[in-house]
Amino acid sequence: MSVRAFLGGACLLSGLFLATPEQTALAQTPSAPASSPAAAPAEPAAPPHQKWSFDGAFGQFDQASLQRGFLVYDHVCSTCHGMRSLTYNDLAGIGLSSKAISDLAHSKQFPGPVDEDGQPTTRPGTPDDHFKSPFPSEAAAAAMMGGVAPPDQSRLALIKPHGADWLYAFLTGYRMPPPPGAPMVPGKFYNEWTDGHLIGMPPPLVEGGVSFPDGTKATVDQQARDVSTFLVWAADPHRNARHHIGKGVVLYLIVLLLLAIAWKKKIWKRLDGN
Ligand code: HEC
Repeated sequence: MSVRAFLGGACLLSGLFLATPEQTALAQTPSAPASSPAAAPAEPAAPPHQKWSFDGAFGQFDQASLQRGFLVYDHVCSTCHGMRSLTYNDLAGIGLSSKAISDLAHSKQFPGPVDEDGQPTTRPGTPDDHFKSPFPSEAAAAAMMGGVAPPDQSRLALIKPHGADWLYAFLTGYRMPPPPGAPMVPGKFYNEWTDGHLIGMPPPLVEGGVSFPDGTKATVDQQARDVSTFLVWAADPHRNARHHIGKGVVLYLIVLLLLAIAWKKKIWKRLDGN
């Protein structure tokens, strides 16, 4: 194998290992047809970039922020949004102990089997249960929430372009009262970062709305940052492990590359000598 072919292979491999699902998802998003630029709706502005510990190919989640973010999800968002892809056991990934996990699961009530009189029962959750959804069905959720069901949060951070930056901008983007001239619709709220600036979700975060056991001050800004971090983790819980593997793979490829160069030099020295 020539050094060039080897290098090409190495780049391809590291690309495969290091691409995050966001990048893969973004790469697959079809771009608008170039032929009708006038008809296309104006692209929403990109949200301001925030500094995230998990940014970049080797970034790692900050566990303290993940735990605060889960608390915000659990106390606030989960009253309206489900997160079906995660089980309580998955929370070991943000550093919760198995005791904390089973206590948490136990505190949630799930529908149980019907009893001998045919009446529905409930049972406490177990660590293997998927996160409890707040509504029994999408239709029930829509009916309760004025027509639009709150989306499941399992993959929110992946579906939205600029996932974490957008989530943070959105959660801190409510304006009350709305700017002059903005459309007013009963039951809708003005948000800078949602389509058409109107959304059926009331502003979920308030100053001091939760209290963090680690003593961090629960400003709206802090809660938005932490819950965005948690939602990115929830959409991709194995990123830390993958980034560890990624580092190993790159190191391994560099060593192979150095060996290949040394080997090539050795062979050519012999040939040149003849
Ligand atoms: C009172 C119920 C309620 C709570 C609490 C709530 N949401 Fe929502 N959320 C909704 C509803 C309803 C929608 C759909 C609204 C719509 O599309 O008009 C929604 C939509 C969203 C969207 C999609 C917005 C878009 O433009 O596509 C995101 C993101 C979101 N919620 C995040 C959160 C987060 C994070 C929390 C917790 C901090 C939270 N929500 C708490 C009801 C709620």
